[in-house]
Amino acid sequence: MSMATSPHTALFQSRTTPFRLSSPRPTSFKPASVKCATQLHTQPPPLTHAQDRVFNFAAGPATLPEKVLLRAQSELYNWGGSGMSVMEMSHRGKEFLSIIQKAESDLRTLLQIPPEYSVLFLQGGATTQFAAVPLNLCSPDDAVDYIVTGSWGDKAAKEAQKYCKPNVIWSGKSEKYTKVPSFGDLQQNPGSRYLHICANETIHGVEYKEYPVPQSGVLVADMSSNFCSKPVDVSKFGVIYAGVQKNVGPSGVTIVIIRKDLIGNAQGLTPVMLDFKIHDDNNSLYNTPPCYGIYMCGLVFEHLLEQGGLVEVEKNNKKKAEILYSTIDESKGFYKCPVEKSVRSLMNVPFTLEKSELEGEFVKEAAKEKMVQLKGHRSVGGIRASIYNAMPLAGVEKLVAFMKDFQAKHA
Ligand SMILES: Cc1ncc(COP(=O)(O)O)c(C=O)c1O
Repeated sequence: MSMATSPHTALFQSRTTPFRLSSPRPTSFKPASVKCATQLHTQPPPLTHAQDRVFNFAAGPATLPEKVLLRAQSELYNWGGSGMSVMEMSHRGKEFLSIIQKAESDLRTLLQIPPEYSVLFLQGGATTQFAAVPLNLCSPDDAVDYIVTGSWGDKAAKEAQKYCKPNVIWSGKSEKYTKVPSFGDLQQNPGSRYLHICANETIHGVEYKEYPVPQSGVLVADMSSNFCSKPVDVSKFGVIYAGVQKNVGPSGVTIVIIRKDLIGNAQGLTPVMLDFKIHDDNNSLYNTPPCYGIYMCGLVFEHLLEQGGLVEVEKNNKKKAEILYSTIDESKGFYKCPVEKSVRSLMNVPFTLEKSELEGEFVKEAAKEKMVQLKGHRSVGGIRASIYNAMPLAGVEKLVAFMKDFQAKHA
């Protein structure tokens, strides 16, 4: 890759004097040579967890693979020899087109998305899809069904009330969202246009291990917090949507995977930005998309493929979840996870301390050891460890060692 010498060259920082956000602006820049810039591209990134990074257990935005961050860093200033950052590119130029097309193609490979499905890169978060799904899939008088296994499913059902006639056919609210219903007992409304589920409830840590087959209409899933964490048979769904900021990228990108025959029936009042047909007809380029976020998702997809795809990714995720849940279960009640064992999330592990007054100290002490964002969601309290794809096994091992120590000190 060649790097032309230009007035901009002076802005390069040598790798030995990194420009930290917290550092005062240097008074003089060290001009970097073409050779230095080339080195940035060719140096293999370190694979071990860097000393100055924390283990970030946040629920989203969440930790990203170090390898991806380092690659993005190396390509930030001049992507692929284009002389531009991805942030500066026209979304209609050949460079960005190659980025979005490769991101889509890699995602199709990862999830084995059948050709009769479209992939859309959108904005507005999964919350926008709570409205976009009913607006695109049904008329105002149509019935639709929701299974509510947590706060996100609840929000989705409430938003749908504005655009159609949603029925909550099962809710886990009275049991504090710790279960998924058995599908045999579910009664859908005849003529329902879709059955909506939240595949992984991020706050409550409840995850579907298999999916219901709708008696009426198509299956729609909010997969925001377990997207690309395991293989999924896309053909069982009408629509899958996900905000990417947990497993596959920075916030700002929402991915929708939709069966093509469901596109093109949006209600008349649907804003263009929520109309799947507009985005599908324009290959997600109707307006300016979140280019840099899409580029980052593309890097993550490549990284997941390099790891051997989602079968391998799931194996890793199971291993991490297993050591965390067994530490909780073997703590003789010092730690407790309220979620029914068969539906415990591989991604978000909520737990409480028997001595709840120690939870604040737990979070504080863990942070001192560079394990951050362990506080449970403000609506439920307790502790939550989000262990998405990019959380290394070493991070979970460090957490369970800390938990055992903490218990020994306070039991
Ligand atoms: C499962 C689930 N659905 C929806 C949302 C809302 O996503 P956004 O903030 O991207 O709109 C979240 C956010 O955490 C989530 O975890």
